[in-house]
Parts: sequence; C-alpha cells; structure tokens
Amino acid sequence: MTWIEEVKDDILSMGSDNLARFGGSFAGGIHLQKDPMEYARLIDFLIKRKSKSYLEIGSAAGGGCYALNKYLKFNKIVVMDDNKHSKSHLRSEILKDVKHEEFIGDAHSKEAMKFIESRAPFDVILIDADQTYKGTLTFLIQYKKFLSENGIFVLHNITESSCSQVIKVDKEIEGGAHELKIVDRIISTNGRLGLGIYSR
Ligand SMILES: C[S@@+](CC[C@H](N)C(=O)[O-])C[C@H]1O[C@@H](n2cnc3c(N)ncnc32)[C@H](O)[C@@H]1O
Repeated sequence: MTWIEEVKDDILSMGSDNLARFGGSFAGGIHLQKDPMEYARLIDFLIKRKSKSYLEIGSAAGGGCYALNKYLKFNKIVVMDDNKHSKSHLRSEILKDVKHEEFIGDAHSKEAMKFIESRAPFDVILIDADQTYKGTLTFLIQYKKFLSENGIFVLHNITESSCSQVIKVDKEIEGGAHELKIVDRIISTNGRLGLGIYSR
C-alpha cells in the first residue's frame, strides 16, 4: 500500500458527510465533504509544498480543515463560514483541538475583507462555499491579494456535474483568464468532485 493510500484509509476512518455524494466508509465523524482519495492526494501535494498557513472559505462541519491539519500541522488557520449549513453547528466540536480563528458571516463582505487583511498572507486558500459562477469568481478575485508569495488557491468541485458554474470558472482559468495559472488538478478515478489548484 502506498503512503497516499494509507492517508486515504485514515480519511475513510474519519467519516463522511454523505456516502452517495462524497464516498467514504461511514456517515458521521468529521462529516467530510470531499472525495477521500482526492483529499489524500491534496495532503501529499501540500506537504511537498511545505504549506504552513490555511484559509478555508466554506467550512460547514469543519471536517475538511480537521483532516488537512492532522497532516499539515498549520501554524495559522482561519475558517470562514456563514453558518447556514445544517452541519455547521458540529464545527466547534470537530475543530475543538485545532487552533484556529473563525469569521462568521458572508465571506464576500467588507467585514470579511477587513478581518482577513490583518491575518494574511496564506499559503493555501481553499474555496468551497458558493458554487455559483459569480460567487466563485468573486472569491478568486477578492482573495488573490491574500495569497503568500508561493500561495495557491484550491477550488473544490471542478469536475462535479452538479456544479457546472464552478466547472466554467476552472475552464476559463485553463483558457488563460482571470490572471491565474493552473498548478495542478486532482481528480478521482470516478471523475467527480475534483480539486483545481491555481497560483497567481
Ligand atoms: C460545501 S460546504 C463546505 C464543506 C467543507 N469545506 C468540507 O470539506 O467539509 C459550503 C459551506 O460554505 C458556506 N457558505 C456558502 N456561501 C458562503 C459565503 N458567501 N460566505 C461564507 N460561507 C458561505 C455554507 O453555508 C457551507 O457551510
């Protein structure tokens, strides 16, 4: 078994939000809303990049942050969420041992910008919130200045058929738009969900 497969098995043991949508071996635990193999490959990618700081836009139950931090041991974590997800109330328990700060509210707002300005830069900014074209693109434009010199965006759902507007943003970046470069794409064998990785 490879190291990435071991990480995937560990992620499987943490619990999924929804087995049909995200895969996994049981529903519950950290309620992760990611494909376990894609996330294991992302962990491997971020370890190799020596990523040390993390901003998560859209956290829900906090499972994504928990699983990444277990391996990356970030020295700075900020989580942003409007707490409108039905599992958001679980986040305080799931992230209870993870040192982090939270912004609760609309991550597009002026208040959000002000909050992040004083905490930037970040090596990783993961976007998994508003799955609309305008919302996704606005996040990329708004938060680009908060990336560290070698910082990257990670965009979730770039191949998820129910997220056609996120797919559109990824395709536009591939075509040279939005002053972002594709660093990598992590896509599971079933071709669903998908993670796009971009730099300035
Ligand atoms: C798909 S879930 C996040 C899943 C999480 N990243 C994980 O891996 O388990 C999206 C979350 O983003 C929140 N959200 C959506 N639009 C937002 C916005 N404009 N500002 C802040 N949070 C938002 C939703 O309420 C929800 O909690």
